[in-house]
Amino acid sequence: MADIAIKDWVRAVTLADIPEGQAMAVELNGKRIAIFHVEGGEVYATDDGCTHGAASLSGGFLDGCSIECPLHAGCFDVRTGEGLCDPIEEPVQTYSVLIKEGDVFVQV
Ligand code: FES
Repeated sequence: MADIAIKDWVRAVTLADIPEGQAMAVELNGKRIAIFHVEGGEVYATDDGCTHGAASLSGGFLDGCSIECPLHAGCFDVRTGEGLCDPIEEPVQTYSVLIKEGDVFVQV
């Protein structure tokens, strides 16, 4: 990606600060965003708030590309935001992610 385009993205975190299989929440442009570093090295971003209730998805259990909410065990696919099981009825918002020179940028 050309340097000019990086202006449209917000730097979220250094990738090395999130081990594979873990997540981290960051505040970007007034939104709380969860960054997921899945096994295998891919990185995804969603709203941190669960669509079912007041829980932080970054505090959940990441299994492959599925994040399990820590409050009622609802699961989302972090790639698409799709709810994978009850009690999830609405998808979670996803955001495009760019890795550049070891930093994670999110299009918020
Ligand atoms: S708050 Fe996330 S599943 Fe209920």
